[in-house]
Amino acid sequence: MLNEATPSSTAPGRPFLQVEGLAKSYPGTTEPVFDEVNFSIARGEFVCIIGHSGCGKTTILNVLAGLETASAGHVFMDGREVAGPSLERGVVFQGHALMPWLSVRKNIAFAVRSKWPDWDSEEVNEHVQKYVALVGLSGAIDKKPSALSGGMKQRVGIARAFAIEPKMLLLDEPFGALDALTRGTIQDELLAIVRETQQTVFMITHDVDEAVLLADKILLMSNGPQARVAEIVRNTMPRDRQRATVHHDPQYYPLRNHLVDFLVARSKDLSHGKAPAHPPTVEPGRGALADAPASVTLKAVA
Ligand SMILES: Nc1ncnc2c1ncn2[C@@H]1O[C@H](COP(=O)(O)OP(=O)(O)O)[C@@H](O)[C@H]1O
Ligand SMILES: [Mg+2]
Repeated sequence: MLNEATPSSTAPGRPFLQVEGLAKSYPGTTEPVFDEVNFSIARGEFVCIIGHSGCGKTTILNVLAGLETASAGHVFMDGREVAGPSLERGVVFQGHALMPWLSVRKNIAFAVRSKWPDWDSEEVNEHVQKYVALVGLSGAIDKKPSALSGGMKQRVGIARAFAIEPKMLLLDEPFGALDALTRGTIQDELLAIVRETQQTVFMITHDVDEAVLLADKILLMSNGPQARVAEIVRNTMPRDRQRATVHHDPQYYPLRNHLVDFLVARSKDLSHGKAPAHPPTVEPGRGALADAPASVTLKAVA
């Protein structure tokens, strides 16, 4: 059943995260970068946003993080309006943003101490070690970032974001700079941790395969100026998707093709505010689920 894969909202009638009429414009420009951005995220939901470079994804993530202000609109999280940075939200940036003079342990301890200033050093250290182990970096815990590979640095960023046990995790193309193999491994690790912790996630990606694997819901953003979330694509494949097998699901290609078609054609036509302010939700994989006889479910791929 579709709805069993969908986490429930915080309180009746109110989603965990609600974005209403968000817009961003800069002085001296005639059209806003984006406007009328409306969407919501349920508690425990993993949401990806996809759109061409420059449409405003990072700006939206920064507004959700409370690091940037919008020109119009509101963001509510867990019943309260987001009005500045908070340790309730963990951010993993495009670059890893680690302090280069501190070891992995100290980089994460810094964040942990900010969240729990009353903890003694033993408590902090124990907590840090737990999250470093979770991303498989125990052996490198006393190394400085300069001694780590790109993949390892990104893992430290993920461990740091999880270590503050945020209500929501915000990820800005966290794997964009990694080679495909490393990216795959870290995607698997992230999925495992998210499932274990029931973390709510908002993630920017430009990789449609990554979105189809990770996300319960994919927000398709039209091109700017006046970009909008034009459509919400529900991933109807079961939540226990695995990287090694997900492409065998008959829903995989209809879903993937839908995302690619949006990016290559429709996203352009919907710029300049032509996308609806309140985007429809679509389920491109669902047809394949109903129609495909079991005998033709992509045996050729095996
Ligand atoms: N100071 C500025 N003045 C005018 N436009 C800006 C300014 N800063 C950013 N922008 C525009 O905001 C847009 C959105 O940027 P960003 O959120 O980084 O997009 P994305 O993450 O989708 O690539 C870009 O098109 C950029 O040109
Ligand atoms: Mg960006």
